[in-house]
Parts: sequence; C-alpha cells; structure tokens
Amino acid sequence: MTATTPAPHSAAPADVAFTSPFQRLTDLLAPHAPGRAPINLTVGEPRHALPAFVAPVMAREIAGFGRYPTIKGTDAFRRAVADWSEHRFGLTAGTIDVDRGVLPLNGSREGLFYAALEARRRWTGTSDRPAILLPNPFYQAYAAGAAAAGCEVVMIDAGPDTGFLPDLDRLPEDLLARTVALYYASPANPQGAVASRADWLRAIALARRHGFMLFADECYSEIYRDGHPPEGVLAAAATTPEGFARVIAFNSLSKRSNLPGLRCGFAVGDGDFLSRWVAFRNMAAPQVPTPVQAVAVAALSDETHVAENRRLYDAKFAAAERILGTRWGYATPPGGFFLWLDVAEHGGGEAVALRLWREAGVRTIPGGYLSGLGLDGANPGERWLRIAMVESLALTEDALVRIVETLG
Ligand SMILES: Cc1ncc(COP(=O)(O)O)c(C=O)c1O
Repeated sequence: MTATTPAPHSAAPADVAFTSPFQRLTDLLAPHAPGRAPINLTVGEPRHALPAFVAPVMAREIAGFGRYPTIKGTDAFRRAVADWSEHRFGLTAGTIDVDRGVLPLNGSREGLFYAALEARRRWTGTSDRPAILLPNPFYQAYAAGAAAAGCEVVMIDAGPDTGFLPDLDRLPEDLLARTVALYYASPANPQGAVASRADWLRAIALARRHGFMLFADECYSEIYRDGHPPEGVLAAAATTPEGFARVIAFNSLSKRSNLPGLRCGFAVGDGDFLSRWVAFRNMAAPQVPTPVQAVAVAALSDETHVAENRRLYDAKFAAAERILGTRWGYATPPGGFFLWLDVAEHGGGEAVALRLWREAGVRTIPGGYLSGLGLDGANPGERWLRIAMVESLALTEDALVRIVETLG
C-alpha cells in the first residue's frame, strides 16, 4: 500500500450486519402504489421447476424425518459431494477427504455465517481488533457472521476497475495481520464476475501467509454462460503443496438445482478446519434432514436438469442483451443470474428502484442496500441497481421493456 492510500474504513457492524436490504426496500416502497401490475425481481430465489426426481426420492426416504440427523451427514451424502466436486473441478479421484473434508449445511447461508465464529475461535493472531474481510457488495450472511464473531467488518470494493472482484493487492499489511477470514464470492453476487485460477491462487497465498481462512462462496458456480464453467477454489488449491489448507468452498443446491426451499448446501476443503468445526456445529448449527440429503445425492448425480436450468437463464440474458443493449453499462456477466446496472445518470439505485416501482410496477433492489462503506469511505453500490433474472422469460422481458420505457 502506498502512503497515500486511505486507511480502511469499516462501517459499524450494526449498519451492515443487522439491516436487511429487503426490509429497507420494503420501507422505501411501502408508501407507494405500483404503477402497473407488479413484477418482483428482487430476491435471488430461483423459480424454475423443481427437478422431477425430488418428490419420489423424498417419498422413498420419508421415514428419515422420524430421526434426528447427524451434523456430519450421511456417508452417501459426503461421498456424493466429494465425487461431484472432484469431477466438476477436475480433481484427481480421492483428493477430497470424504470423512473430514466434507460437511452438509442447512443451505450455504448458515454455513457462511457459522464459519466466521469458528475462524475467530481458531485464529492465532494477537491483535485486539480482529477483522473479517468482505467483498463489497457482499452477501449479508458474511457481515452477520463477522459481527457475531466480534470481528470488525472490512469491505473491499469489487467494482468495474478491478473486474468486479475484490482488489486484494491493495490491502494494508496491518489489516492483513489482523484478518481472521476473507469471504470471496465467485461467481459474485450481484456482479456475476468470475475468479480466475490466478485470482484464487492470490487469495489462497494471502490467507496462508497471514494465517487467515479463505471462505469461497461458490453457490452460483453452476450458473454460467457460454459453456465456460467457473474455475473453483478447490482446483486452484489442489495445485499447491498445502492442498486445501485454509480453504473452504461453500456450495449449495439452491441455485444449481432450483431447490432454495430444500435448504441443502455443503462445505468442502480444509479437513482440520471442518473436523473441528463439526464439534461446534454439533451443539448449535442446524442439521440437514436425511431425506433432504438423499435428494441432494440424486441432484448431484444428475447434470441434465442443471444444463436445462442454464439454458433458461441464457434465454433471459439474451433477452436482456436485445432489450437493454448497452444501456447503463450492461454487458452479460459470465456467471450468476443478476443484472447489475449503473444507473447513476438517473440518480442512482435508490431513486431508480423507487421510480421503477411507482411508474412501472417493477420491483428491483438498490445496489447501495447490498454494499457498505468501502476503503475510501464511500458506498460503491449506490450508483447501481440489481435485477434478479429469476422469473419466467415472458415476465422478465415484460419487466425489462418496462424499465427501458420508464428510464429511456
Ligand atoms: C452469494 C450468495 N451466497 C450464499 C447464498 C445462500 O444460499 P443458500 O443458503 O440457499 O445456499 C446466497 C443466496 O441468495 C447468495 O446469493
């Protein structure tokens, strides 16, 4: 860091960790009637059809609801996650430790939250100001976890000048020395940016050099364009002599398999971290019901429904290209299912979200509600607007046409 680089600025945890963006949006829009029949494109909740095998597997396994599930998950679940991860990320069979290196999560959200507590517990740094680093914008569970772990929340801007990924090269040494964990999402929500192997290797090296955990949020890893699956953190880590040390990949069936209500995710990676975390989780974290794990095993062994899912998103991104053109800096992102539009010329995300609701009935979320104060003391999300491409093609097209008609 140069002498002129501003010191990191952290918003008070209460600001970013305990304020739901969706509650803020409700507060903003509630006094106003929608201008037309509402279309809601706010929450990143997949709405494509459930895979056909879900109901029969659930029915077959129904007796499992009569027992408490173990926190560690079934052998079949951990094996399916290891097999899928090795295949998907091009790892040699057996690279993943099925016994110590895989855990089921009740959706990746709770795992991302609880992981901060474990990272803080096993951190050996000496600073009395431990910090957890987040990309900015960020997914709320990271900030909530960091705050619950008693860590300072430090947000690293991930804007256009760094390819919408957090700039890890500008982090001050004194901050790195007190860093407990770094959250890093790829594909990123909301920008859809994807980390390269070099990006992952940089983050991994930093984590090891400074003794912190790297929490890679990969829950959008299967929602990608043009037949280019995003590089995973595990593939990058596997090329290093230390393997998965200090690296955890979080993933989920929510986006991949259109099963956000199933509540099933998984953590894979550093066996030392996961095997100790499981002891804490056994006292406090939610288990995953065994019928749910059985559905996950079926889902992870089928790629047909995932390819179909991508096809449906592709059609909506093609519609966005057609309808938006290059307005508001639009370019189809390589991953994820959000549009991230620079609407500064119309007064920024909050003004535009309000206007689109009042004039067009389209519900979107201001980017500034998904981000906080960055290294320079400004909120980098304020000029942006997020649109979730989760509705049907027809509704999505309708919404995008309304947006263009309203904003011009
Ligand atoms: C970036 C990101 N990470 C994690 C999650 C959590 O998803 P789940 O708990 O359904 O796995 C979401 C959900 O929207 C998300 O957008």
